[in-house]
Amino acid sequence: MTDRTVLVKALADILAEKITLGEVKNQVSENDKNFANMLILTALRELTYLKQEVLPLFVKKKIPNKQQILNYVLYLGTTELLFLNTPDYAVINSYVDVAKKLSDSFGAKFVNAVLRNISRQKKELLENRKIGYFNKDFSDILKQDYTPLEISEMEEFTSVEPPLDLTLKATTELHFADEIILPTGSVRLPYHTKIADIKGYLEGLWWVQDAASAIAVKCLRELNGKKVLDICAAPGGKTAQLLDAGAVVTAVDISKARLEKLKENMARLKFDDNLQIVCADARQFSSDDKYDIILLDAPCSATGTFRRHPEVIHLKTPKDVIKQAQLQQEILEHIASFLNPHGVLVYATCSLAKIEGESQIIDFLHTHSQWQILPIAMPELKNCTTKEGFLRILPQHFKQIGGIDGFFVALLQRKL
Ligand SMILES: C[S@@+](CC[C@H](N)C(=O)[O-])C[C@H]1O[C@@H](n2cnc3c(N)ncnc32)[C@H](O)[C@@H]1O
Repeated sequence: MTDRTVLVKALADILAEKITLGEVKNQVSENDKNFANMLILTALRELTYLKQEVLPLFVKKKIPNKQQILNYVLYLGTTELLFLNTPDYAVINSYVDVAKKLSDSFGAKFVNAVLRNISRQKKELLENRKIGYFNKDFSDILKQDYTPLEISEMEEFTSVEPPLDLTLKATTELHFADEIILPTGSVRLPYHTKIADIKGYLEGLWWVQDAASAIAVKCLRELNGKKVLDICAAPGGKTAQLLDAGAVVTAVDISKARLEKLKENMARLKFDDNLQIVCADARQFSSDDKYDIILLDAPCSATGTFRRHPEVIHLKTPKDVIKQAQLQQEILEHIASFLNPHGVLVYATCSLAKIEGESQIIDFLHTHSQWQILPIAMPELKNCTTKEGFLRILPQHFKQIGGIDGFFVALLQRKL
């Protein structure tokens, strides 16, 4: 049986922003990876419900500061009792053991009592559930821009397992069992597909990329031979699209580690030519060159990725959104000067907040009167196109086929 101690600590570390969700797999054995991923993802999806509705019924006293780890023991224990198939006695025994290891005999008794009580009442708890998935901070971010109906439509996607989206090289003629070809060209496979089992991985014929994330580059028509500045490029999903389309790319990112990942990814895809990599803060990037295209996939609150990254629901606050919007504005302001007079600037974020999308661009145009919006013309995304000519993609826009990440794209050019 997978050692839950490691997973309890991992959950605490994710919520303290000490590790990312993706790093959990490095802490468990190969055999335990799938279970670890399912347990932690489910706990993060259900955390608002557990914290606000379930646990207050059973935990009447405040857990002492020194024993805070017991909260995480209960989050995972309760997740397993209510949402996974592990037999109740095994769940209770294993989390009592974890509590003994991470706390003391008082902690173990406390966890035993709470989990036993929850186990006795689990049917009623689930039948009478009132609370959804988004907490107050996350809802406050969304309330700035969306109606209650739109928010509840988004919220429904928290519990929908996101399918696996691939971008295929233009020259690849692969087909997969159970594939859906999305209107934008991404290939969609069922959630449980194992990446290692998909043909063409070692040959570098495709890469994993959420269908929404792939759209920013698809907005650009002619890329062959174009000089592209790919700002905030790592780990390189969009860099790969640009290289695949024949562009000559300068990829810039502040993170050395993420650029290493980009290099690894481009090597697997055999995209080593036509690529220059620069590790720099985009606000200080300097070059004598001008570029035909600038792609700014800006750092953001990542609120649009809540289906695959439910931790954002618990980590992001309205203040974070404002901070990211400030950073985006500084990067956009600096980077725009590197565009050729006839060039196109693509601004993209995986945030749902309009202050990081629509308003960011409108504000830029107010202070840069020589710039204008180039309306995005993608008939297949008509329902995501705003009156200004931006793309505002929401999970519910792809409701019939399993949803999509929230995303924003704008194209800008200079007035001639
Ligand atoms: C949304 S991710 C980019 C995803 C990437 N474009 C892709 O398609 O795979 C944002 C990136 O911005 C980088 N970043 C954050 N702040 C930055 C800054 N001030 N200058 C340059 N890069 C930055 C992060 O390291 C991260 O890799």
